[in-house]
Amino acid sequence: MHPINEIVNEHPHTGYQLAEHKAARYLSSLHNQMKSKSSVTALMADIREWKKKHIRRFSVLSLWSPGKKKPDTQDYYRYIQWLNYTGKLDDYLDRSVSYIYMRDLGKAPDSPDTQNRIKRTIADLHRHLLKSARSGAGEEPDFMNLAGVYRWAQKEGVEAAVIWVIAKLRSVAAHIPEGMNAEHAQRKLIKIIVGVILHAIEEMDDNVIPEERSRTLDEAIRLGYSYGLTYPFVDDLLDSQILTVPEKEQYSELIRSALLTGVVPVLGDWSGANMELIKYIHSELSEAFEYIKQQQRPETQHSFFGQSYVFFQAQDFDRVKVLTRGDYTNEDLYIPVILKSSSSRLIARSVISAPADEGFEERTFFFGLYNQLADDFADMAQDMSDEAVTPYTYYLRYHKQRPDLINPYELYWAVISNLIHSVYHSDAKAREVILDRAINGLKRYKERAGTDKYNETMGIFAAGHPVFNGLIQIMVRKADDVDFFDKLLRDQMIEHLKKDAREQKEFFATFKSVRSLINDELLFTKPQELPAMKEQLIDAANYSLEGDGKRVRPILTWVMGVKEYGLDPAAIIPLLRSLEYMHTASLIFDDLPSQDNASTRRGRMTLHELHSSAVAELTGLYLIQKAIGEQASLNRFKAETVLALIRYSARKAEDMCMGQAMDLDAKGKILTLEQLNNVCFYKTGVAFEACLVMPAMLAEVSNAEIGALKRIAYHMGIAFQIKDDLLDVEGDKDVLGKPVGNDAVNNNSNFVSILGQEGASKEMWDHYCKATEALREIPRNITFLKHLMNYVVNRER
Ligand code: IPE
Ligand code: IPE
Ligand code: MG
Ligand code: MG
Ligand code: MG
Repeated sequence: MHPINEIVNEHPHTGYQLAEHKAARYLSSLHNQMKSKSSVTALMADIREWKKKHIRRFSVLSLWSPGKKKPDTQDYYRYIQWLNYTGKLDDYLDRSVSYIYMRDLGKAPDSPDTQNRIKRTIADLHRHLLKSARSGAGEEPDFMNLAGVYRWAQKEGVEAAVIWVIAKLRSVAAHIPEGMNAEHAQRKLIKIIVGVILHAIEEMDDNVIPEERSRTLDEAIRLGYSYGLTYPFVDDLLDSQILTVPEKEQYSELIRSALLTGVVPVLGDWSGANMELIKYIHSELSEAFEYIKQQQRPETQHSFFGQSYVFFQAQDFDRVKVLTRGDYTNEDLYIPVILKSSSSRLIARSVISAPADEGFEERTFFFGLYNQLADDFADMAQDMSDEAVTPYTYYLRYHKQRPDLINPYELYWAVISNLIHSVYHSDAKAREVILDRAINGLKRYKERAGTDKYNETMGIFAAGHPVFNGLIQIMVRKADDVDFFDKLLRDQMIEHLKKDAREQKEFFATFKSVRSLINDELLFTKPQELPAMKEQLIDAANYSLEGDGKRVRPILTWVMGVKEYGLDPAAIIPLLRSLEYMHTASLIFDDLPSQDNASTRRGRMTLHELHSSAVAELTGLYLIQKAIGEQASLNRFKAETVLALIRYSARKAEDMCMGQAMDLDAKGKILTLEQLNNVCFYKTGVAFEACLVMPAMLAEVSNAEIGALKRIAYHMGIAFQIKDDLLDVEGDKDVLGKPVGNDAVNNNSNFVSILGQEGASKEMWDHYCKATEALREIPRNITFLKHLMNYVVNRER
């Protein structure tokens, strides 16, 4: 065992006790300030000062530009632009960025160094936001789509880590069980990762060389994920009703033991309904734990494990409380809350092995409770209906019979006063930002709960200090300019994740239903009394078509044709058939011994193995002729349009032959990136192009749009082929329905053999971004195409 772990191992309980004492001292000092009313007196003065900037007798702006009403904050870029036009953007960013520096980075706003950094961050953000708003990057923040994130990764040289974390987040989302909120889990994880990245950026000095910066950020991303995993899979899981009581105990024991020994124990005996879930979580957490441990410096490992233990214990104490028990003391209620909220932020810094910083730890310790009380206030209704114990729900239930209970709302204001005056030494900026935030919290609550519910809540919590409360309520009604960027992002992120999940579900539902519709149209029926050879060919063609193909190409055509161009579904069935016949023929040829020499395809034996190369070749030709026949039966469209389509199709078929020839010729050669792209475009991309262009031709869309479709198809097709090359190395033959490792056996030259898996992934994601960017050029609903791109790069078959 590592010596540091021995120290943790010997003293974890002492560590927790020390933390408890500190929390108890904090609680009692706050309580004293409440009793002596010193905090309220100080706050009255603070608010009178604060309101000068936030209450106007009338709005000058509303006189000058009555049309420029504040847009809905859902409309992200318009809202930013409105802030800019009305001259509010700088203050908005100032309070938002300052708040993040205080809360997430534990900084004091009165330090000149922090002030400089805040200024710089504001300037960067300002520039970036206005640039994105002007370029009309869509209604969503650019970093909330994968292309935006990957572009950032390229800029910072952290592509590998971002590709890795995208896959991890997808897998987490896929494993979140029913009964836990998937969007919530993802949002928390993302927030933790971003938090750790921010810490890492803060710790770097300005002269760090780019390679070093990339390496640090790469680590921060992986560390952030590794640590963030504990939110959905430790805290939320134990909070939820998914595990049984004995399972929860067994699971908690496992986590506790990991934190105490520094080694995740083996899973041991698990059975029952949650076994698969637990296996997945256990393997992810073990990997995460090892990664964190391996990145820690010996001198920081101690504080990391110590804080994690405090975090876990505090959550554990907090969790077992039940709302039906009326005898919890104030210490029972608040100490775990103080400890869990402060330790979680301390860990976000220690996970990157940052050196100890006394000021940071103190400020973060005091800040935690503030944040927790603000969050619990916002979630009060939900917690009440879940019967969860928080300071607020407990007070609501028991305040009448328990006059000794601390009123959490009064405590909240005492925390605020303590922060402003003792933690931040009455700094004007700290006062400004913290009061902005507090009033904003009340406004948000009022908006969500409605005025009646809000007044009722205030009646219970704020009755003790009528004068103070009167002042606060005036602020809630009249004060302006208290919005925060992180709240905007939070709202946007939740909306985005929900929308994305909904769209993805729709995408797969469409995919499935159109696929089955196409499957019903593909097979050839045999007329009576056929010559034997023709019968054999039809059987062979049907054999290939009956295999488990994905039908991506005709699905794409159907969705664009029917949904986007409004073509009659019955009228384009011949087109769908022709595309799948051509594609199936190309696979039959591709598998021949003279080409890739593959033994399985679409989950069954290849045609030449089942019969002979001769039969396979003839079946391929047969399918191509059938495809042309189908195109020539597009009789619900103008003849000249159909002729143009057939001419185009013939050219694309030529291109594909060339692509296959180039591919075979490349065996064993080192191709340049340009050559790789070329081969892939010709052998694979052109088919995607045909699928997009042919329905557009039938719909007679503009040449400009067809040009954009070609650009999309180019990148989509190459990305598809790179993924295919990756799956040849990483995939599972049973899922794929075709052999793996065949490219290596054949000494093929492709993205993976030349650039390696990581290099190939980077190129694939670059094409993903380019395809996604090109999507903006077509004047259509691009939701399906966007999700098709996600499917292309994330598929397992
Ligand atoms: C395989 O295409 C050939 C490539 C261009 C990589 P698909 O992966 O679409 O194969 P099926 O149609 O689903 O079998
Ligand atoms: C095939 O590429 C491209 C075609 C258009 C046939 P691959 O040879 O990599 O396709 P698979 O892996 O055999 O499906
Ligand atoms: Mg091939
Ligand atoms: Mg092949
Ligand atoms: Mg392949």
